[in-house]
Amino acid sequence: MKKIWYNYEDIHRAIKQLAEKIQASEHSFDAMIAIGGGGFIPARILRSFLNIPVYTVTLSYYDVNDQPTDLPQKIQWTDGFDKKLKEKKLLIIDEVDDSRATLEFCVRELQHEGFNQLGVAVLHEKRKTKKGVLPADMPFYSAIQVDDWWINYPWDALDIDEHYQNVVSQSLPEN
Ligand code: G4P
Ligand code: MG
Repeated sequence: MKKIWYNYEDIHRAIKQLAEKIQASEHSFDAMIAIGGGGFIPARILRSFLNIPVYTVTLSYYDVNDQPTDLPQKIQWTDGFDKKLKEKKLLIIDEVDDSRATLEFCVRELQHEGFNQLGVAVLHEKRKTKKGVLPADMPFYSAIQVDDWWINYPWDALDIDEHYQNVVSQSLPEN
């Protein structure tokens, strides 16, 4: 699988464009719900442009033994959310729309609890067949569309200098 590397600067620029798409659309949102871990940093950057508060949930596909589970697990969910949020327009934020399984699960579970005015925004949208389905009328925004490549995010880097070297060398012409 082809791999690509992103630096923080290009992510920040892409999220500015994402904010502009959201602001130019017919929808507006009162708050964000970031899906952790990947949605945290994109949501925080987006907040600089949208000026709406960020709430968080954390879902994981992996159990304590690092084994994949059938459905995403709720590491942290909506307990403690202000009840008034159910009447608000909420934008769910994640870093990548990949299989869409996590996004479908998150939307379905939030709707089940009475959060009914939802939209979804992601940094990267992979062009591929999706396992998960989102309601057709749900606002959906992505900053960047990519093929089914593996995206290396700077926040996952154990060696950020090596990560930035990969960002630079991938853009050099071959041979
Ligand atoms: P989706 O609904 O957003 O499409 O997510 P999906 O369930 O398909 O993704 C399962 C996990 O794989 C998610 O991590 C997602 O962030 C991660 N993932 C998918 N494609 C890529 C990629 O190209 N690069 C990277 N770095 N991660 C990818 P998760 O279990 O939510 O973990 P977390 O890192 O968000 O905590
Ligand atoms: Mg995630």
